[in-house]
Amino acid sequence: MEDQTMAVGDSPTLDRSKAVSLDGRRFQFTAPIESAVEPGTFVTLGSDSERIQLGQVENIEFSIGGTLSGGGRILGAISESGTLEARKTMPFALAEMGNAEANMIELLYGNTAAPLVIGSYVSGGDIPARLLPNRFNRHTFWCGQSGSGKTYALGVVLEQILIHSALPMVILDPNADFVRLSEPNSHGGQAGAASVIADRDIQILRPGPNGPDSLRVRFRDMSLQSKAAVLRLHPLTDHAEYNELIHLEQTVGIVSPELIVPTLRARESKAAQTLAARIENLRVTEWQVWAAGAKAVTDVLEERPDATVLDLGGFAYPDESLVVALAVLDDLWEKREQRRPILIVIDEAHNLCSAEQNSPLNVAVRERIIQIAAEGRKFGLWLLLSTQRPSRVHPSIISQCDNLALMKMSSPHDLEELATIFGFVPAAMFARSPGFRQGEALFAGGFVPAPTIVTMGARLTHEGGADVGVPMRQP
Ligand SMILES: Nc1ncnc2c1ncn2[C@@H]1O[C@H](COP(=O)(O)OP(=O)(O)OP(=O)(O)O)[C@@H](O)[C@H]1O
Ligand SMILES: [Mg+2]
Repeated sequence: MEDQTMAVGDSPTLDRSKAVSLDGRRFQFTAPIESAVEPGTFVTLGSDSERIQLGQVENIEFSIGGTLSGGGRILGAISESGTLEARKTMPFALAEMGNAEANMIELLYGNTAAPLVIGSYVSGGDIPARLLPNRFNRHTFWCGQSGSGKTYALGVVLEQILIHSALPMVILDPNADFVRLSEPNSHGGQAGAASVIADRDIQILRPGPNGPDSLRVRFRDMSLQSKAAVLRLHPLTDHAEYNELIHLEQTVGIVSPELIVPTLRARESKAAQTLAARIENLRVTEWQVWAAGAKAVTDVLEERPDATVLDLGGFAYPDESLVVALAVLDDLWEKREQRRPILIVIDEAHNLCSAEQNSPLNVAVRERIIQIAAEGRKFGLWLLLSTQRPSRVHPSIISQCDNLALMKMSSPHDLEELATIFGFVPAAMFARSPGFRQGEALFAGGFVPAPTIVTMGARLTHEGGADVGVPMRQP
């Protein structure tokens, strides 16, 4: 009797990768096991030069000793003139599939100038990966677990925006990570970034003694609601004090913060006394953040420097950094009709966007961010929010984001939630995130022509708050 068993390795293998598409939009393929395809790999489909199409592998299955098989999306057909036509894709039977070369991937960008080189494709040798700068006119959500390289990578992208676009940015920087954005490092020097950065107007504002770079807010300019949030006043529960606050400028006049309490005390009314006590108890007048005649952060932003870094880390009272965020966001919102574009970058965004924090200042900041997320886009107020805790960012903020950058994230719960919100990203590409190394990121949404996994390039400027090393004893 004939032996019908097959030894491992005898199973049928293809020596070529073959693909088929029934609808001209998606394709299925089989490939030899040694093919270098992964979810996200760009492939050419077809060998007849007139009918070559560009596709992206989205999912793969394999069996040891067998073949690879999977499916993907056809991104466009390559025309005679060598452009990629997304609307002219067509079905095909058993076409050859091969890894797309750099010049093919380049076609994805069409005629759009995409000078923002941020690194290289993880699966594509040294092919540069780029972002479309014109699509930062949407909100961007950036996440990855602690240490995945978010802040470093964000720095790479912000440098490119700064060098190649005229889009001004304000960076809310809780860990002083971007305070050296104006100082090229040795790599930046070699890459020619030094002279470009030197030409840019980069303002670094920080807590500290009064000076040209001090980070200050003018209490008087804040809206009534925001002043009430600073003083934790509710319009109904604290109606008498709230009312006193409404009339503060008429009764107390425009006095410097340290004079508010004595002036209120000098008034007869009970509400004035209670308000004075409240201000004293909260130690609001001790806050260094008040401008008291000095230039306020909103004055600086009014001049629209190319980049304004707000170092929020060094205040003595945690509420001071919330006051800065609130004053800046309120001011930008207030002037939205001017339609002056600005990229609002918030690192550690869960600090300001959490659905769980309920102090009046936290609520005021969060509500303003929710409003900007929902309505700011058409006024040129574009958010870029970075966090290691997506589940702690209010869901209505994330759902307004069109661009996604995802770095290593091991939490299945977080990944599931993101996959639901960013449903246009192939599940198998999301599934690669737990295996990412530091500095690897998945970009998807409007700012890339197709979802792309990137090894981030090197920073051109100095990082501010690099990790602190463990001190070791000398032997
Ligand atoms: N692509 C990279 N190349 C070289 N060093 C990197 C890269 N990415 C990150 N690092 C280094 O790794 C450390 C952690 O990176 P980073 O601060 O960007 O992580 P993070 O995701 O922002 O973490 P956290 O959520 O804790 O803020 C930093 O010291 C940074 O210099
Ligand atoms: Mg960080």
